[in-house]
Amino acid sequence: AARLFDPGPLAGRRVLITAGPTREYLDPVRFISNPSTGKMGLAMAEAARAMGAEVTVVLGPVGAVERSGYEVVDVVTAEDMAREVLARVEEVDCFIASAAVSDWKPQTRASQKVKKSEGPETLTLVRTPDVLAEASRRVSGREKRPVLVGFAAETQRVVEYARGKLERKGLDAIVANDVTAPGAGFGVDTNHVTVLTRDGKQQELSGTKREVARSILDLIKDLLPPQQP
Ligand code: CTP
Ligand code: CA
Repeated sequence: AARLFDPGPLAGRRVLITAGPTREYLDPVRFISNPSTGKMGLAMAEAARAMGAEVTVVLGPVGAVERSGYEVVDVVTAEDMAREVLARVEEVDCFIASAAVSDWKPQTRASQKVKKSEGPETLTLVRTPDVLAEASRRVSGREKRPVLVGFAAETQRVVEYARGKLERKGLDAIVANDVTAPGAGFGVDTNHVTVLTRDGKQQELSGTKREVARSILDLIKDLLPPQQP
């Protein structure tokens, strides 16, 4: 019999996604960040929603963007992002880390604007938490743990570096992205990626960010364990 309503291939699944950049402030008006617009992560959120998933996006500062059909948790720093992700990752079926998280932050954050006359000539940086690696550690060894998917932005030796990240962070899949390739990377609407999976396979995908997002989710869907009745 014909179904009147198809709930979609991710119906009943909870998906957590990080997207956008983070900002690491050195004083109230200055920060370290990167040009991520969150487009790829938000395309993943939209595609997952369209496939029937219940989606939460932990979103760095990206300005005004479409945010209907899924929950958005706004964050600013890598530490905020880590806190919001760790509070949710144990409850989801899949965690997709697409955010461009700042790897470093200024060692100190001045409470008032630093005047140029007293400004530091050198800035001391310290590491931020690795949101994805911490989430992976949190759920590792669990009988029912979410499928973990990373993104790897690279400028060289793309597949080799991405596979290293997949292994080091204990991921099920990683989406490798050559950010210097034409039609890929920050801000543009198209993407060309290679998806590497834990079983050693790899698959190339290209198209609009929306099309690539859908194709990535089709691959991820096959990594999810069968649904509990
Ligand atoms: N990531 C994260 N938290 C960080 C750094 C990275 O969650 N502090 C996640 C990203 O969202 C991405 C993956 O880890 O899914 C890989 O990010 P990437 O910057 O490519 O790799 P790094 O491990 O930070 O290594 P490097 O920047 O030195 O290449
Ligand atoms: Ca990084």
